[in-house]
Amino acid sequence: MPDKQLASRITKNPFTPEFGRVPAYMAGRQDVISEMARAFDEGSGNPNLCTIFVGARGTGKTAMLSYLSDEASRLGWVAANVTATPGMLEDIVQRSKEAAAHLLAPEGKRKLTGVEVAGIGAVSWENESGEAPNWRSRMNAILNELGEEGTGLLITVDEVDPSLDEMIQLVTTYQHFIREDRKVALLMAGLPHNVSALLSGKVTSFLRRASQYDLGGLFDDEVEEAFRLTAEEGGRIVEQDALDVAVREIGGFPFMFQLVGYRAWNIARGGAITKDDVTTGARLAREELSRRIFDSTYAELSKGDRAFLVAMLDDDGYTTRDNLMQRLGKTTSYISTYKKRLLEAGVIEEQEPGVFTFALPGFREYLLDKKER
Ligand SMILES: Nc1ncnc2c1ncn2[C@@H]1O[C@H](COP(=O)(O)OP(=O)(O)OP(=O)(O)O)[C@@H](O)[C@H]1O
Ligand SMILES: [Mg+2]
Repeated sequence: MPDKQLASRITKNPFTPEFGRVPAYMAGRQDVISEMARAFDEGSGNPNLCTIFVGARGTGKTAMLSYLSDEASRLGWVAANVTATPGMLEDIVQRSKEAAAHLLAPEGKRKLTGVEVAGIGAVSWENESGEAPNWRSRMNAILNELGEEGTGLLITVDEVDPSLDEMIQLVTTYQHFIREDRKVALLMAGLPHNVSALLSGKVTSFLRRASQYDLGGLFDDEVEEAFRLTAEEGGRIVEQDALDVAVREIGGFPFMFQLVGYRAWNIARGGAITKDDVTTGARLAREELSRRIFDSTYAELSKGDRAFLVAMLDDDGYTTRDNLMQRLGKTTSYISTYKKRLLEAGVIEEQEPGVFTFALPGFREYLLDKKER
């Protein structure tokens, strides 16, 4: 059947090694996805409606926000997805209107609490006293109209930035939405050090009480199942020994999952992905990973951070605090300062007090390579 063979050769690669892309199959994360679906279903009062996702680079924060935003839309919510950059609040207004265009009354048809809700492209935001309403009033107008339809508004904020004042304003105003019993949800995502800086900064205690979800590593069985299903989605099976290699090479890391799959898929010739395809694919994936993730992680580290990590290279598995103090010639409090920074950056883990390992799979090898060069 030549036609069928041709079709299988030109099937699109189902792996998505691009930042922010929702994968064909979300490996793991089932618990949080169903918890969140329940929250959207129940609406006001469910504590998960305000959740912060925390994870190192490439762990799937953006993909999770997009996935949940689609899920919420499916369940009848309107979703406004933004990134924490200057102008974010205005963007939330615009995105909300865009997403709710089918629900909001066209301009001039309606007046609510003295604020006219404008449809797309028609902005007429003057209240009776002639003053331009502030952000909260504009959001209230949108929420009032959505509320009449029984629709909730989900705001997702990616790449939370503790230095952005608009973050604080958003959270403070969100708290008022809750007090006014409006149907709203706020999902945020960020790198560990940004989230912890945000939570320890001048935010309200409200945010400190928000649910936090750690997007840590995926379990091997979750990786195996999703890898197999993703390949099958594209019309190829994966041989069992190939799956074993894939699981080992991916090490629970979502971005690596997509990179290995993508490469192995392209290398595979027939209808099946073999162990050799995955082995070669994984080698290419590792090179790509270090270019894309490790370079940007490394660039964000200070001199002191780097010295700490280089001192860890002398050990193969675990490094103890005592060893670090000796190698760096520094005090306990110095080690504590850098330990905290590196934990927050998601670069190291503290398995038990005073015992450190590398958190990002492959980062140790990357540093070794850099040191040798
Ligand atoms: N649960 C998952 N299963 C499989 N692949 C996933 C999963 N989550 C994310 N991915 C894939 O991993 C890659 C990285 O995801 P994403 O861009 O969401 O990470 P991120 O945490 O936002 O990274 P960054 O901090 O750099 O913004 C993407 O290619 C995405 O498709
Ligand atoms: Mg992202």
